[in-house]
Amino acid sequence: MKGIVLAGGLGKRLYPLTKVTNKHLLPVYNKPMIFYPLMTLIDAGIRDILIVTGGNSAGDFLRLLGNGKDFGLSHLHYVYQEGEGGIAAALALAEHFCGGDKMVVILGDNIIEKSIKKEVEIFKKQKVGARILLKEVENPERFGVAEIKDGKIVRIIEKPKKPPSKFAVTGIYMYDSQVFDIIRTLKPSERGELEITDVNNAYLKKGELTFGILEGWWTDAGTFDSLLKANILVAEKERKK
Ligand code: G1P
Repeated sequence: MKGIVLAGGLGKRLYPLTKVTNKHLLPVYNKPMIFYPLMTLIDAGIRDILIVTGGNSAGDFLRLLGNGKDFGLSHLHYVYQEGEGGIAAALALAEHFCGGDKMVVILGDNIIEKSIKKEVEIFKKQKVGARILLKEVENPERFGVAEIKDGKIVRIIEKPKKPPSKFAVTGIYMYDSQVFDIIRTLKPSERGELEITDVNNAYLKKGELTFGILEGWWTDAGTFDSLLKANILVAEKERKK
């Protein structure tokens, strides 16, 4: 199982914090943001990890993380995303690294309280397709949202004005290697990006999308409010230790 942290983009929603640096290098309580998704993958037992970065300060990831020794890793892989093409475009850069293996993809600004180990174990046994993790939230319109009927996802809508449920699609995705063929079929959305929601809907259409509900709290950290929330949640968790 491969692991991929997507840490590119221009972080425009956090401007001017991201004017000269990369969003994923900003502090979340006592660590740089990228430490959290990286630790999520490592905690799930994943050792072979690729960091897709881009935009500002890309070289700083090497200085910060090196070969991953501080995380108990013997090596880390890096790839650079030119420009901004969306989450699915960033993931496309991982094809060579994955070489036919299954993968767990995590957005570099997604921070969670608990472990995804059990979910990854479930996905290991899944023969084909994808698995996503949902979380009930109070503001689903900010995310990809799952419409659920009779306990099954019937479609996923990206940032719906009228959310069909409160279940947001978190930025933790498990895919088989078909994902790269799917990405090649995508067309840019209205915001000019290749959407990860379109990838998930493609798996859904094939009847190959399963889902779990994420345990514990979850937040992204890509806006001023969610970055503040992430800081507070991590601080509370650290103090409890
Ligand atoms: C992205 C995805 C969205 C998902 C979210 C999770 O949103 O497009 O489907 O729910 O990450 O953090 P964005 O960060 O581009 O607003």
